[in-house]
Amino acid sequence: MATPVKTSIVAALLGVMILSPDSVATESKTAQLTIKADQGKVVIDRNVYGHFAEHLGRCIYGGFWVGQDSDIPNTRGIRNDVVQALREIKIPVLRWPGGCFADEYHWKDGIGPRENRPTMVNTHWGGVTENNHFGTHEFLDLCEQLGCEPYISGNLGSGTIEEMADWVEYITFDGKSPMADLRRRNGREQPWKLKYFGVGNENWGCGGNMRAEYYADQYKRYQTYVKNFSGNRIFKIACGASDVNYNWTEVLMTQAGRHMDGLSLHYYTIPTGSWRDKGSATKFGEALWHATSRRALEIDTLITKHAALMDQHDPRRRIGLMVDEWGVWHNVEPGTNPGFLYQQNTLRDAMVAALSLNVFNHHAARVKMANLAQTINVLQAVILTEGAKMLLTPTYHVYYLYRVHHDATLLPTELTGPQYVFESHQIPALNVSASRDKAGKVHVSLVNTDPHRAIELHAQLQGMKAKRITGQVLTGAEMTAHNTFEKPTAVEPAPFGDAQVTEGGFRTTLPAKSVVVLAIEN
Ligand code: AHR
Repeated sequence: MATPVKTSIVAALLGVMILSPDSVATESKTAQLTIKADQGKVVIDRNVYGHFAEHLGRCIYGGFWVGQDSDIPNTRGIRNDVVQALREIKIPVLRWPGGCFADEYHWKDGIGPRENRPTMVNTHWGGVTENNHFGTHEFLDLCEQLGCEPYISGNLGSGTIEEMADWVEYITFDGKSPMADLRRRNGREQPWKLKYFGVGNENWGCGGNMRAEYYADQYKRYQTYVKNFSGNRIFKIACGASDVNYNWTEVLMTQAGRHMDGLSLHYYTIPTGSWRDKGSATKFGEALWHATSRRALEIDTLITKHAALMDQHDPRRRIGLMVDEWGVWHNVEPGTNPGFLYQQNTLRDAMVAALSLNVFNHHAARVKMANLAQTINVLQAVILTEGAKMLLTPTYHVYYLYRVHHDATLLPTELTGPQYVFESHQIPALNVSASRDKAGKVHVSLVNTDPHRAIELHAQLQGMKAKRITGQVLTGAEMTAHNTFEKPTAVEPAPFGDAQVTEGGFRTTLPAKSVVVLAIEN
């Protein structure tokens, strides 16, 4: 902990006032924003708002899947409440079956009559027995119910090339073939469309502990047999780096770039910075509130550097950077299975979601997909379930507010504003991204990370005359505010009326610790 003397020296140097963590202040700072509403060339791919579901803890079993005989309302075994909630955030893409699980998953164990499916041990996640009741048909049915693209991760770590090739044939071939006939015998006449296919996961770690050079060779072999059948065109995604492993990106781009459509990147925000003790999801003070946003924002630097390497090999940006795992990783909730990664979700997690999604928007030219880990009951979940009960987390509500950015054109912005300083660290207090949708409406998503001070914002709209402005806000009384099964709506969006059209744009006051999304019409 910094002493008050040190803190005030930092404050004096930075020319800002620092409030004690306990203080409740209403003092606002001002910020200036310019939105170039008549510019913008790059479309924000809606898949940046994607999700990830692994056979891990209660994500699939109890989360998505309850089985046809369950008392919980379901359609062919898939929970109706969950499907409806995810449709409301317009979930664009869902990655499955892992994660680390993907490289020990043998898909043929998960087809055919459920009572005949063999079991396996889920060695990564709690050593529990996997009954394979949720397999290929169930996953693709889920995606159809959700109206989203499936993204399947194939097994390169412990599976064969033949097995991977068979899986794609089974799903997508419409003629007569051993795999297509097997699919028909299992009740599905028509092939599915499958666009996104990952060739392995974290093959530098749980997916086989490979060197980049070795994986690049393996990737080239395996992907050769991932075929385009019956008019289906597969977008092939190579396993990419985690965090600062720039060498992995460099080797993959050099040696295998021309064989891939996407290269992944994984980044988890660990509030304490230590994997041994990541901190509680709900019991934390301002130091960890600040550190969590600061560490989350590091993804901007990571993407910038990985993208710069990709630019050297792929200046036309044909290959997408797919951030197919990201989110906050806390300690598990006390008393729960450490292998199940079940954590609560507070306003702090919502901040991370909002900041990260703004970062992805800004990198729309290279980032073509991002998948929050993980959809239900695992890590930074958007949904938590307990038996028949379901709640939407603060992170869910960010996805609800930000759905306006799907497939919208990113607008250039210039922002100057105060810093949020805590002890010896500082981050910009305000974070923004803006887009124009197909109807010409401009949406601005603003995050005030400072838990004490509101920010007065004066915005100029270039090339657009605003007539009407509306908004929604997500905030809470405490930094630790969260939803429980007893109080499932403690944190949820509310209408935001504090934004007025001005001569050249608009002005607004953003409450402390809030996410505000504005809609501007001309
Ligand atoms: O999301 C949990 C795990 O984190 C995934 O299985 C793995 O890919 C990553 O290390």
